[in-house]
Amino acid sequence: MNIQRIALVGGSGYVGRHLTRHLQNRGYHCRIVTRHAHRLHELRTAADAVEADPYDRLQLTAALHGCDAVINLVGILNAGGKATSFRRVHVELVENLVASAQAGGITRLLHMSALNADQSSGSSQYLRTKGEGENRAHTLGKPTMAVTSFRPSVIFGPDDGFLNRFRLLLKIPGPMPLACPDARLAPVYIGDVVRAFGNALEDRDTFGRRYDLCGPQSYTLKQLVDFIAMHSGQRKWIVGMPDWASRLQASLLQYAPGKPFTPDNYQSLRTPSVCKEDGLAALGIDATSLENAGARILRGDGKLSRLTRLRRSSMR
Ligand SMILES: NC(=O)c1ccc[n+]([C@@H]2O[C@H](COP(=O)([O-])OP(=O)(O)OC[C@H]3O[C@@H](n4cnc5c(N)ncnc54)[C@H](OP(=O)(O)O)[C@@H]3O)[C@@H](O)[C@H]2O)c1
Repeated sequence: MNIQRIALVGGSGYVGRHLTRHLQNRGYHCRIVTRHAHRLHELRTAADAVEADPYDRLQLTAALHGCDAVINLVGILNAGGKATSFRRVHVELVENLVASAQAGGITRLLHMSALNADQSSGSSQYLRTKGEGENRAHTLGKPTMAVTSFRPSVIFGPDDGFLNRFRLLLKIPGPMPLACPDARLAPVYIGDVVRAFGNALEDRDTFGRRYDLCGPQSYTLKQLVDFIAMHSGQRKWIVGMPDWASRLQASLLQYAPGKPFTPDNYQSLRTPSVCKEDGLAALGIDATSLENAGARILRGDGKLSRLTRLRRSSMR
């Protein structure tokens, strides 16, 4: 397989920005397929940006023209109306993408899913539809496309939506009520995620496979928010809420601007986001620890072992 040109659908987002840089450093030519090319000023110098409606087969086929591989990074945490339902974004878009890529003779697809994505689970709509989309990518891709999918836990890194979001929330005066404090997560470093994509791209052993991607350790959400507070220099009383209050918070905040927390997010957090298999190791990558990279990102230093203590104390 000789891949030179890669189209990244949803490549304007957080993972896409890092992955584009990574693939360019590895010598690939990247094309970002986006619904809003005018928002990509900073990316235009580094990569082509092509505007297309990813639900329109003709537009998408034209946008993918001339590429050897396609990467799907489109995903939403919160559904909007009919036009942005989880099913439309996570399943119908995948169906359209596979058909468009096949029409253009593209034989390689890297698909971004999510840890615990499972079409048959009783969990959140997010995880169910992510699971359905992942399965669709693998079944519809056959026999002409080699498909590999990636299933990360929450991703952290500079300018992410996780550490930085809590860092901002922690600035709100007063104690911080934290929903789902016991939810378990194994944050995976963005640098490791993009290397996983890069390593898999032309490796035949990865064809047809699905990789769970996690950091080396798992933590409760409360431990993670304590860590963020400590390393961003914020003294804060963080109050873990009981289950009934977490559900109530989700049912109220779904109506707040930007939907900061919804019943579907609450459902997703009920499934521990920890790996059973080490996909990073299978792809030849040593997972980066949150304690080192996360602390650097949050510009803290010194008490890096506190998260370990917190994690261990919760296991007693
Ligand atoms: N970040 C994490 O912690 C994490 C963890 C697990 C899995 N993932 C998965 O990784 C992928 C990338 O995540 P990310 O953090 O980079 O997300 P992101 O920053 O929100 O970017 C996702 C991209 O999807 C496109 N998009 C958004 N809504 C859409 C819609 N309704 N229809 C079509 N396209 C839409 C947008 O591209 P345009 O606006 O340019 O069209 C956007 O740039 C997603 O599939 C996500 O589910 C992320």
